[in-house]
Amino acid sequence: MSGNSASSGLRGFSGGYRYSLLTIVWTVVGFFLVAHLISLYSRKDNIHQQVSSDQLQVVHHDHPVVHELVRVEEESLRLPPPRKRSPRTSKRRSRKPIPLVEEFLDEKSPIRHLFFPSVKTAAFGPTKDMGNETSYYFPGKIWMDTEGNPIQAHGGGILHDEKSNTYYWYGEYKDGPTYRAHRKGPARVDIIGVGCYSSKDLWTWKNEGIVLGAEETNKTHDLHKSNVLERPKVIYNEKTEKYVMWMHIDDANYTKASVGVAISDSPTGPFEYLYSKRPHGFDSRDMTVFKDDDGVAYLIYSSEVNSVLHIGPLTEDYLDVTPVMKRVMVGQHREAPAIFKHQNTYYMVTSWCTGWAPNEALAHAAASIMGPWEKLGNPCIGGNKFFRLTTFLAQSTYVIPLPGVPGAFIFMADRWNPADLRDSRYVWLPLIIGGPADQPLEFSFSFPTWSRVSIYWHSKWRLP
Ligand code: GAL
Repeated sequence: MSGNSASSGLRGFSGGYRYSLLTIVWTVVGFFLVAHLISLYSRKDNIHQQVSSDQLQVVHHDHPVVHELVRVEEESLRLPPPRKRSPRTSKRRSRKPIPLVEEFLDEKSPIRHLFFPSVKTAAFGPTKDMGNETSYYFPGKIWMDTEGNPIQAHGGGILHDEKSNTYYWYGEYKDGPTYRAHRKGPARVDIIGVGCYSSKDLWTWKNEGIVLGAEETNKTHDLHKSNVLERPKVIYNEKTEKYVMWMHIDDANYTKASVGVAISDSPTGPFEYLYSKRPHGFDSRDMTVFKDDDGVAYLIYSSEVNSVLHIGPLTEDYLDVTPVMKRVMVGQHREAPAIFKHQNTYYMVTSWCTGWAPNEALAHAAASIMGPWEKLGNPCIGGNKFFRLTTFLAQSTYVIPLPGVPGAFIFMADRWNPADLRDSRYVWLPLIIGGPADQPLEFSFSFPTWSRVSIYWHSKWRLP
């Protein structure tokens, strides 16, 4: 009896012991989980505050060259009182004041000069008498080439030609009838082709002409002037010694959704157009190519009706994709991808999908270019809240590494003018990787920490 009670007491004790051990283990696990979640959320809040507050703190960067670039500049928009909608339109729509993005898109808006300053008051470049402002970038102003004409290289990218130590800027060279404004039907402008400019200093650009021209007569040709050619990017293939251009090829209604490939012996063309296709059998709209340090190049494109990005290596000659492809940022509806690399980490800036209208940028990071890619948050710093929520009224297109300054880049973006795409402006700003480490906004089992990607607003700035 007593033995029984003793053993049952023992059982009771060991049961209680196991019970309390389990409780301790679960308490510890729970504590760490809660602590991790709190830290994730407080970081999320911090990042949010950093981009939404008008009282930004200077982020410290010790690199002497980077010091100037990371100065946080606030800029208030001197706005007249918001316009009210006309009584007729306000019956259909709310009576709220017209949002700034609509003012930005409306070519008749009285405050349009704030976003698209005129050539008389705001042009810069080597032909202008710039005094001691020579070699300063003025994001949003009209940028002149060495002949005094506005640079036409929209949705562009940069090739650094190592042989000649020259930069080449390729982009959409647009002309023809004025586009119909956003949301009022398919875009209409005749393709002229891909423009190319060369530079030694990334500020003085010489027009090298149209390196891939439109087709005038054959209506079935991809490059017929009534079609769409966007976001051309050129990479050099060391093995074949060819310059290879990839671009978004579409019809005027954006239903063809393909990529096109062209090739040249020289960076200044002429490029020979090879073909177009739907890569991996999928629709492809905004796209870019990225050449990695090991010479492998990748195509990155918005697919599945812009809901996901596809990424995959090109063949060795860069003229096609291989069957390998990964779906990344699934369901996130990102486009305008611009990829860059720093210390073995891949970074990307993307926009959300709102056509020509600007929206909030996101930075992403990945240990492998094939993913997984994780969101880092909005990289835009300074300016004002409206600027930060609209990528400074622009959309990413490319990121240029600054030679000799590790972690420093130039962020290239387009301030689209849907009423006249030829007059779209360039927003080039310093992009810095560094500063306080960000944890990804998404939950990650590997708990990596990523350096912060920051794009600093400057109404006027120059390279160090
Ligand atoms: C944007 C895209 C541009 C152009 C435009 C057409 O979202 O980034 O390259 O395709 O849509 O509406």
